[in-house]
Amino acid sequence: MSDNVFPVPEAVAKAALVDDAKYKAMYERSVTDPNGFWGEQAQRIDWIKPFTKVKNTSFDPHNVSIKWFEDGELNVAANCVDRHAATRPNQTAIIWEGDDPADSKHITYAQLKDEVSRFANVLKARGVKKGDRVTIYLPMIPEAAYAMLACARIGAVHSIVFGGFSPDSLAGRIEDCGSAVVITADEGLRGGRKVPLKANVDAALKKITGVETVLVVRRTGSAMDMTAGRDIYYDEAAAAVSADCPVEPMNAEDPLFILYTSGSTGKPKGVLHSTGGYLVYASITHELVFDYHPGEVYWCTADVGWVTGHSYIVYGPLANGATTVMFEGIPTYPSPARFWEVVDKHQVNIFYTAPTAIRSLMGAGEGHVKKTSRASLRVLGSVGEPINPEAWVWYYNVVGDARCPIVDTWWQTETGGILITPLPGATALKPGSATRPFFGVQPAVVDAEGNILTGATEGNLVILDSWPGQMRTVFGDHERFVQTYFSAYKGTYFTGDGCRRDADGYYWITGRVDDVINVSGHRMGTAEVESALVAHPKVAEAAVVGYPHDLKGQGIYAYVTLMTGIEPTEELRKELVAWVRKEIGPIASPDLVQFSPGLPKTRSGKIMRRILRKIAEDSFDSLGDTSTLADPGVVDDLIENRQNRK
Ligand code: PRX
Repeated sequence: MSDNVFPVPEAVAKAALVDDAKYKAMYERSVTDPNGFWGEQAQRIDWIKPFTKVKNTSFDPHNVSIKWFEDGELNVAANCVDRHAATRPNQTAIIWEGDDPADSKHITYAQLKDEVSRFANVLKARGVKKGDRVTIYLPMIPEAAYAMLACARIGAVHSIVFGGFSPDSLAGRIEDCGSAVVITADEGLRGGRKVPLKANVDAALKKITGVETVLVVRRTGSAMDMTAGRDIYYDEAAAAVSADCPVEPMNAEDPLFILYTSGSTGKPKGVLHSTGGYLVYASITHELVFDYHPGEVYWCTADVGWVTGHSYIVYGPLANGATTVMFEGIPTYPSPARFWEVVDKHQVNIFYTAPTAIRSLMGAGEGHVKKTSRASLRVLGSVGEPINPEAWVWYYNVVGDARCPIVDTWWQTETGGILITPLPGATALKPGSATRPFFGVQPAVVDAEGNILTGATEGNLVILDSWPGQMRTVFGDHERFVQTYFSAYKGTYFTGDGCRRDADGYYWITGRVDDVINVSGHRMGTAEVESALVAHPKVAEAAVVGYPHDLKGQGIYAYVTLMTGIEPTEELRKELVAWVRKEIGPIASPDLVQFSPGLPKTRSGKIMRRILRKIAEDSFDSLGDTSTLADPGVVDDLIENRQNRK
């Protein structure tokens, strides 16, 4: 291997579930005999009614249909909770670590069963039935996991909305999936600051109809405005129901959850995941990608508002009877040593975080790391965006003391679980590469025309065949599902990512090739930010692109054309940033706003984003052909007033 390679340490390979030879044999079988491979792997979970059919999938754009284990019946809560409560009732299921380091608790599998059942009975008492949608807008408290599993227990479909989204974004997501019940908390607590969740729900519900119940979990205990008949405190409702609730048998293809995610056009779409395939896939990837051994403590620092929190804080680890850490706070509170202090406090063995967190902690200096032991750590993970080699090497040497393999896991909300990743005991690592496909995953690199490229090459990343964790549809809009993922390169699933494959067959994800920006590992559609900006009365037109940002990976760069007669001022610039925060949420705040009297458009009126991206990157001497522009002169003004100067 030519690049900087970190071989699997012998000690790791010896104790690991999968070594290189086993990886190769299992991979081969998984793609040549998917029915045999997945039929066996599906036995890792309990089925109420066994399936007789494994895979029934088609990527043909005229008939996209994805079904796994389609005649089987199971219940996700029975698998994640009850079966472990029966066999290991006193083992800790969840270690909750509060925002305040003095605040933590352990929840055993027996306690989890009671909590989930009680929560399920509260939902039932409010009329929630199988197939109904329930919106969850909670901070990182154990009730978030209880609520998810309670929905799964009774066959309701949860839709979690990240607590950082604004009332408008929340309203749109509640309305799209038609939830009659919203579960929230009085306030969240992050880095010592309160987040007004209940107040946001109140504001959201002023804009839409159809919500009959708001369940409010007390987190901070501050006094809340409660709407009579609609709003109830969860603890009061829970005191009135039993801790016994039967599980609902679900068909493998019944929906488990909806999670909204940004795309290159339009409003966020409701990614729909189903029950059987998703759980099998979350379980196998959690076990094998992290080389999880029974008794280990596993910590994923994501928020349950994102897919990583769904698959790798809740469903995957709990399906495997693991001990999973749930962290309410942020990496830098009360100090940048927090992550490593928590690792020592709870003796964490496997730690999974995002490159943006690594980069910000790297900036705070290694003293914060080195004053802690971290001797319990065995495997490190990364997710959400490409990890730059400098951050990788720091993570490996400083955090992992050059002992712990790093699994750089590439996947998406749509994929349900990890698709391209090293396995700790099997894969020699290259900093910045997600390395090789997981079992059953067949990646391919295509050129702009859709030709499959072979050998060492670069192009667009597609997946040739289905895997069990794949999303099934866009909630309420199957045509959008087909158009978004299966029409660009016929017969394949298009990821929206670009990638390079090297001579060793390793994959290097280079980032989105569509109009999606990845800000600190969070997905944001440029179209969404643009429509928020043009909703401002002083804005005539806006175009948004991503640009390289040292900490966030990508920053948001907005070009704004003001209404005639409006003066471009510093104050207005701030006002527009605050406006977008309010419209969408803090993660959508533009980092740079450039007032531009004109935007580069073709004669047919199409904005040439390629040019805007280049100027935002401060690399405007390679703008390429601008002769097709309606008014090539606007480019000089854009360069002259660019905001990102190195
Ligand atoms: O561009 C890829 C990037 O994040 C996108 C998916 O975002 P989301 O659906 O929010 O899910 C994030 C967590 C799974 C991908 O299209 N991405 C995710 N993981 C990696 C990555 N890019 C490079 N390397 C990764 N490990």
